[in-house]
Amino acid sequence: MTEDVSERVVELAKRRGFFFQSNGAYGGVSGFYTYGPQGATLKDNVEDAWRDRFAVAEGHMEVDAPTVMPEPVFEASGHLDGFDDMLVECPECGENHRADHLVEDDTEIEEAESVPTEEVEDLIAEHDLVCPDCGTELAGQPVEEFNLMFETNIGPGSSQPGYLRPETAQGIFVEFPRLKEYARNQLPFGVTQIGKAYRNEISPRNSIIRVRELTQAELEHFVDPEEDEPPLHRVEDVRVTLYPADEQEKEEGGYVETTVGEAVEEGILTNDWVAYYLGVAEPWYDRVGVDMDRFRFRQHLSGERAHYAADCWDAEAEIDGDWFELAGFAYRSDYDLSKHAEHSDEEFTLFKQYDEPKRVERATVDPDMSYLGPEFGGDAGDVADALERKAERDRAAFDGEDVTVETDGEEYAVPLEKTGFGVEEVTESGEHITPHVVEPSFGVDRTVYTVVAHAYREDEVDGEERSYLDLDPEVAPTTVGVFPLMDKDGMDERARDIAAELREDGHDVTYDDSGAIGRRYRRQDEVGTPFCVTVDYETLEAGTVTVRERDTTEQTRVPVEDLSETLTALRDGDRTFDEVLVAADAE
Ligand code: GAP
Repeated sequence: MTEDVSERVVELAKRRGFFFQSNGAYGGVSGFYTYGPQGATLKDNVEDAWRDRFAVAEGHMEVDAPTVMPEPVFEASGHLDGFDDMLVECPECGENHRADHLVEDDTEIEEAESVPTEEVEDLIAEHDLVCPDCGTELAGQPVEEFNLMFETNIGPGSSQPGYLRPETAQGIFVEFPRLKEYARNQLPFGVTQIGKAYRNEISPRNSIIRVRELTQAELEHFVDPEEDEPPLHRVEDVRVTLYPADEQEKEEGGYVETTVGEAVEEGILTNDWVAYYLGVAEPWYDRVGVDMDRFRFRQHLSGERAHYAADCWDAEAEIDGDWFELAGFAYRSDYDLSKHAEHSDEEFTLFKQYDEPKRVERATVDPDMSYLGPEFGGDAGDVADALERKAERDRAAFDGEDVTVETDGEEYAVPLEKTGFGVEEVTESGEHITPHVVEPSFGVDRTVYTVVAHAYREDEVDGEERSYLDLDPEVAPTTVGVFPLMDKDGMDERARDIAAELREDGHDVTYDDSGAIGRRYRRQDEVGTPFCVTVDYETLEAGTVTVRERDTTEQTRVPVEDLSETLTALRDGDRTFDEVLVAADAE
């Protein structure tokens, strides 16, 4: 069963309450999905597993920032100018398409996102690409940059534009001045956030793989680039499948199967922090149920990297022969904190104490206010402050005849001789440094989709076709289905009591008394419930229940007093179902 898994997954997801397109009563809008009861729990479980590994186990803190942020944040972050996709409009039906996706779908080019717009226009003409909706030729149509952010107004009127955040990350970066206090001004420290992000995708597609409202799980790890090193020894033996940029560029390029440690030694992974997080992520994806034979880490090609990224690798998964991005691991250097420092009045630095005081050169300014005042009026004070910051951070800016500074989005050129620029030798006990950032950024929706698609199985049970989800108990929406064989003779009451007791012991339980027992098993199989418990006449007479395992459909009898403990051991992987069968046979 290898073909069209996606179609079957989408159908099952809708039928069984995992996820479906929202607003169906009004015709639906592309790119918006609702998670049903099963999907919402599965998604929560994936998020909990992420939090457990990337926040708790790493000792990082978690925040929860607003999803609407004012315009200056995105001016500073570069999203207003650079967060674009390539748009081409059909001249006949008016439908909008992602030009790079059309190129990827119909040519050998795998990453057209990194191709300049003019070349994409040429490729559209060269390959006679047509509108997927109406078949009209698109040659000659302009390819334009389309900004993906959703704009809104904060409060009445339009005086304060805001945007729905396109990544959760900015909610962490803008709060750095406060967050560093919570970290006692010590590097390195990490801050995580799981939450919604919004992207006005040109053509949302593939169910929850490309949506307009998505959930991200992001970690911003602030480090001192000169001193901090990741604990690589903890992940050096983790085996990874890497697809480096140079292999992608070769005609016959392929994967490098190696360990994290070897990849670092051989210079395939050049950034130790990125390498560390690939080593943490690989077992995590395995843990939540991604098929590691259909998983790889692919390095970004140079033209593909986001405006902030110095190096970036993606975790990718394969479904139906297509690879898509699950997460990005970017080295963002000091890009974000420096930008917010430039655009705001806050300090985005951290004071680093030297082991011993040092004699150092310090650049200073003493702006000539008798020049700045008449020249820049009310902005003169801000220009003087900006000159001071510039001298601290970018001494080379004072090499020319004029020094250009930016304040509140406006640029001001000041003649060098009016800046009072000078360099003096002073004794300093430390320095203000701008931390660098390494960022593992996970798409939760895509993880959920992959977990479901990779868990999808079909087989035959008692001559009947069956589909089921081979979900790991840690993420399965329900771990135990409890059924009375029949709704009479006290079996239903006993079954309800058992369900309640199991819930009290921390099991996720579904109670189901509707329809034939075989149908109830199928329902649970399709939502990936690993174990089902049936209460029958023997339960009333001998105090035992039937426990059935999802994948093999094998059954055994377990005394009610041992049930919770047995299910806990099975759920946590401390005992296999075979061991439970052997133990039952021995009695
Ligand atoms: N802060 C970095 C950042 O946002 P990204 O690669 O743009 O990086 C991170 O997004 C992850 O978010 C992706 O790897 C992907 O899993 C998920 N993602 C991005 N756009 C998405 C969309 N439109 N629908 C679903 N998931 C998306």
